Amino acid sequence: MNKYMEQLLGWVDARFPLTSNIKAHLTEYYAPKNFNFWYFFGSLALLVLVLQIVTGIFLTMHYKPEADMAFASVEYIMRDVPFGKMIRYMHSTGASLFFVVIYLHMFRGLLYGSYRNPRELIWLFGMGIFLALMGEAFFGYLLPWGQMSYWGAQVITSLFGTVPLIGPDIAEWLRGDYLTSDATLNRFFAFHVIALPLVLCGLVAAHIIALHEVGSNNPDGVEIKKLKDKTTGIPLDGIPFHPYYTVKDIVGVVVFLIVFAAIIFFAPEMGGYFLEANNFVPANPLVTPAHIAPTWYFTPYYSILRAVPPIGISQFPGVVAMGLSVVAFAFLPWLDRSPVKSIRYKGNLYKGWLAAFVVSFFVLGYLGTVPADVWGQFGPWLGKADIATVIARIFTAIYFLFFILMPWYSKKDKTKPVPTRVTG
Ligand code: HEM
Repeated sequence: MNKYMEQLLGWVDARFPLTSNIKAHLTEYYAPKNFNFWYFFGSLALLVLVLQIVTGIFLTMHYKPEADMAFASVEYIMRDVPFGKMIRYMHSTGASLFFVVIYLHMFRGLLYGSYRNPRELIWLFGMGIFLALMGEAFFGYLLPWGQMSYWGAQVITSLFGTVPLIGPDIAEWLRGDYLTSDATLNRFFAFHVIALPLVLCGLVAAHIIALHEVGSNNPDGVEIKKLKDKTTGIPLDGIPFHPYYTVKDIVGVVVFLIVFAAIIFFAPEMGGYFLEANNFVPANPLVTPAHIAPTWYFTPYYSILRAVPPIGISQFPGVVAMGLSVVAFAFLPWLDRSPVKSIRYKGNLYKGWLAAFVVSFFVLGYLGTVPADVWGQFGPWLGKADIATVIARIFTAIYFLFFILMPWYSKKDKTKPVPTRVTG
């Protein structure tokens, strides 16, 4: 570093802890040396968050949050604003890829027990992020004011109407009107562009501060801080985050951007999974679409909502089950009683249940995209139940049993001995 740069840095450091923070969080932050593929997704989630905020700012410059103009303003962005189509597709594709990245990031937690002591708070901040992200995606989806936007919002706000006694009042309060309307669009816009992004950024900061307090887990589930060099105090299995993992993460970023660009340029609607055909039709409060389904990342929970039978005409049990299916992840740090963290040293019981859970997540995800009567009904001997609904019920049971039985099977599982050092 030349003399002038050194002087400038000295000037800054006397007023702001720049060098000490770079050391604490990058050059002298020691991360386990055995990170693998699954450790790409934290930095990718950060990248997608930034991409969504930047593209969102440009969309907001041309978007009109008014029921009469919203749809037309999105069409204007697509047709007339320079690069508008690309920015819109970056934002809509970014929303779906955000969930792909987050689901893989969370699955890593399940593989390596990253939610376990001492990382419970990292996980809980993560759950807060996950809930905020779901809200962010839901509010954003109303903004183009297409048929699916409108009816999706109508269906989801109506779910709150199923709460006994106070439900209808809550639904009206959320919408700001008796039906989804201009007032609803205005408030969803406010939540989407400012309230939830602020919450998300705050939670992500807390998530990373908590992570840097306790240090990262790794594919072996070995705590590297327990074995330090006696003279330097550096963990024997740790390497500085910068340059080693900054360089590794760039590889992940490049691969991600290739996939991202391929989708934006060649398949931005992704066969209706990222943007539905019905959402290119302006919202019409008088015409309900024949089949209303949420975007793919919500369909496992939507399937659970439909699978749980109503009591009389009340859908409330389904709504409660859907809420629980999301919140259940928050309890994992206390449900997992295994003496080991990583799947590498867990036995077949845990592996089997995790596999069953993953299968049920995909099956429910698929079933949520199709109408409940897609395969017709069983004969009268099964009470004329929809075949797809019966399958959804079976997989809903497996989904919940994964969590409910975890204290039992994680304790009973035959585990292997954990090495003292990471294995690579
Ligand atoms: C905007 C969303 C998120 C961002 C930007 C983010 C960012 C990060 C980053 C940069 C790391 C360290 C690198 C890595 O381990 O991959 C990390 C670790 C972690 N994250 Fe997230 N995260 C997000 C959402 C979540 C969610 C939804 C959960 C779970 C509910 C979660 C749970 C964890 C856990 C348990 C770790 C520690 C993993 C370990 O050490 O093995 N994160 N996160």
